[in-house]
Amino acid sequence: MPAELLCFEHECRARHSVTELIYTCPRCGGLLECIYSGLPTEPERLKRLWRERRLSNLPLDRSGVWRYRELIPFLDTFEHAISLQEGNTPLLDAPQAARYAGLQRLTFKHQGFNPTGSFKDNGMTCGVAQALRLGMRRVACVSTGNTSASMAAYAAVAGLQAIIFVPHGNISFGKLAQALEYGALTLQVEANFDRILALVRQLAERLGIYLLNSINPFRIEGQKTIVVELMDQRDWQPPDWIVVPGGNLGNTAAFGKALREMVATGLIRQSPRLAVIQAEGAAPFYQLWRSADRDRLPRVEEPETLATAIRIGDPVSWPKALYEVECSRGVVEAVSEQEIADAKAQIGRCGIGCEPASAATLAGVRKLVASGVIARDADVVAVLTGNLMKDPDYVYKYHTGQLEAPGGAKLVSTYANRPVVVPPDPDRIAEMLEERR
Ligand code: F0G
Repeated sequence: MPAELLCFEHECRARHSVTELIYTCPRCGGLLECIYSGLPTEPERLKRLWRERRLSNLPLDRSGVWRYRELIPFLDTFEHAISLQEGNTPLLDAPQAARYAGLQRLTFKHQGFNPTGSFKDNGMTCGVAQALRLGMRRVACVSTGNTSASMAAYAAVAGLQAIIFVPHGNISFGKLAQALEYGALTLQVEANFDRILALVRQLAERLGIYLLNSINPFRIEGQKTIVVELMDQRDWQPPDWIVVPGGNLGNTAAFGKALREMVATGLIRQSPRLAVIQAEGAAPFYQLWRSADRDRLPRVEEPETLATAIRIGDPVSWPKALYEVECSRGVVEAVSEQEIADAKAQIGRCGIGCEPASAATLAGVRKLVASGVIARDADVVAVLTGNLMKDPDYVYKYHTGQLEAPGGAKLVSTYANRPVVVPPDPDRIAEMLEERR
C-alpha cells in the first residue's frame, strides 16, 4: 500500500516520498506524518489474523510491532524489519494503585517489559528498518537515556554504527550502561537535551547520519502499536482513559494517531481520552494547555526533574501532541517531584515497579480523580514507559530517605522500605524478625 510523508502544518500539507531522506518538511520545516492511501478495511478479518499470528513462530509475527504491520505499511518489503521481539508487553491489574488513585480499577500497560526495558523499542524497530531501507550506515540520537539504549541495541542487531549524545551527568546509570554494553559510540555533552537535539539535527544533516529521535515519523509509526496491542489485549473494548507521561511528546503523538486510525478502520468504536502527565519542573506542554494562546509553546529553558527521562523543556512533537489531545477530548496535568516519588513507591508495592517518569502517570491519575476530571468508576489504563531497573539510584535514595528535589529540597520518603543492617547473630536476627511480624 503506497505510503507518503505528509507535512503536519495546516497551511503547507506538502507530500513527500517515504524514501526521501528528510525528518521535517523541506518546504516549511513542519513535522512529518506517515499517511497511507487507504488503510485496511475489514476489521474483523484483521483481528482474527492478528490473533492467529500470536501462535506463529515467524519472527515478524512474534514481534508485538510487526504483528500489526497492516497498520504501519510504510515498507515495501520486510527484509529490513529486524526484531528483538519488541512489544508483547503485559496489561497488569493493580488494585493497590487503583485505591491510591481513588479509582475502582486501574490497569498498567507495562512497556518496561520490552527487550531494552522501555517503549522506545516499539519505535526503534521501525526507525532502524527505515535506516536500512535508505541504505544508511550510521544512526544517531540525543537521549535522556532510553532512546539511546534502544537505538544502541537495534543498531547492533542491524550492523549499523550507533552514535549517541547524552546530557552529561543527567541520565541514569542503568541507561548509560546499556548503551555502552550494546557498543554505541557514546558522547556525553555538557548541555541539556533540548540544546543537544539542535546540535545533533545539524550534525546528522552535515555528516549524512540517520537521525532516530522521535521527530522521525517512522518511529512514531512503531509506537502506535503500543495502543493497538493494548486494544487487542482488551478484545477491542476501549478504556475511558489512556494515561501517558509527556516528555518530547512522541508517544502522545503516536497514541493519538493510532486511536484515530483505529476508529477510522472500525477496529474500535470510539476513542479513549488521552491524559498526558508532565513533571512540574519540565512542563511546557502543561503550560501551553493552560494558556489562552495555544499557538506558541512556552519553552522551559532549564527543565528540572528527577524523572530524567522527561527532563525536556522544548518538546519537538508538541503540535502533533496538542492536536491529538484535543481530538481525543483529553487533558494535560503536571505533578510534583514528591507526587512522582510516592506514586512510584506505590507502583512498586503492587509488585510491578517502574522508572520515575512512568510513575508520573499514577500521580497524575490521582490528581485528576481528586479534581473530578476522571470519574472514580472510569476504566483507566496507564502506560508505564520504563522498567524499574532503569534507575536503581533513585530507588535506593527514596527508600533510604536521601532523595532530594532538583533545588536541593529533601523529599519525604512516605513509603520508605529501609534495608536493615544486622550483625551475624541468629538470636538478634530472630528477635528483630519477631518484632516485625
Ligand atoms: N517515559 C520514559 C521512560 C522515557 O524514556 C521518555 C522519553 C518518556 C516517558 C517521554 O516520552 O518523549 O514520547 O513524550 N525519553 C526520551 C529518551 C526523550 O531520550 O529516551 P515522549
